[in-house]
Amino acid sequence: MLDGLLQALCLPASWRQEHHLAHLARRPNGRGLHCRSAAFHLASADIIATHPAKEARMIHHRALVHAKAHVDANTVQIGAGTKVWQFASVTRGTVLGDDCSVSPHAMLDGSIYGDRVIISGGVMAGAGFKVGNDVFLGPNVVLCNDAWPAVDKDGYDDERLRSKEWFTVTIGNGATIGAGAVILPGNRIYPDAVVAAGAIVNRNVPSGMVFCRGGSIKPKPEDWRENRMRWVS
Ligand SMILES: CC(C)(COP(=O)(O)OP(=O)(O)OC[C@H]1O[C@@H](n2cnc3c(N)ncnc32)[C@H](O)[C@@H]1OP(=O)(O)O)[C@@H](O)C(=O)NCCC(=O)NCCS
Repeated sequence: MLDGLLQALCLPASWRQEHHLAHLARRPNGRGLHCRSAAFHLASADIIATHPAKEARMIHHRALVHAKAHVDANTVQIGAGTKVWQFASVTRGTVLGDDCSVSPHAMLDGSIYGDRVIISGGVMAGAGFKVGNDVFLGPNVVLCNDAWPAVDKDGYDDERLRSKEWFTVTIGNGATIGAGAVILPGNRIYPDAVVAAGAIVNRNVPSGMVFCRGGSIKPKPEDWRENRMRWVS
């Protein structure tokens, strides 16, 4: 019966065969589902929907984009298993790899992200950044691409930042950026490095090192996982 309904809604055969139909099946009714030529749009207030596959190669059919996320489907790439949650914004050529998570109020306006990247709520990142695999970006992390920002654009090379060949900040595989950290332009966070919550990073952070809030750099302790959970009672 579901298949018949979907046929009536003129969904492509390939979509009917894919297991993301499970998401549709979970819907209590067909409200908000309507057809737009070959592509279609799922508009529902409170469900996670598979994204309209205008460009099947750009947004993987196993990517999940919440109906209330803002995704520029004509320019971005989103990999398999990546989830973009409500009120997140993904625009202007942003590339997200596989199995990433983009939390509410994250703003990704360009730049490249690898696989399994966690992008927490409120992350602000425009163009000119290259983020590796397995990177954790904590809540409200800000990546900066303009060292001397001003209202006018003189001297600001947006085209170069969006070329995906030149990067002002790179973050290596497995790095962790703590809540509210600010990464200033021209700095590299090397693989497995940690940036403390609230830090303002004004120099490179070597692999496996911790950039502390006060600006000092220390080795990442081997037993860091044991100290992950701290309770007050
Ligand atoms: C970088 C970090 C891992 C360092 O942890 P650590 O090496 O165990 O640091 P310590 O707990 O030994 O801290 C040493 C001192 O520095 C302080 N400190 C550590 N990190 C700090 C930070 N980011 N801001 C302010 N003070 C900090 C501690 O309060 C402690 O002060 P005290 O000696 O007066 O008690 C940790 O502080 C951090 O920032 N974690 C990220 C948390 C986060 O952003 N989570 C993401 C979402 S939940």
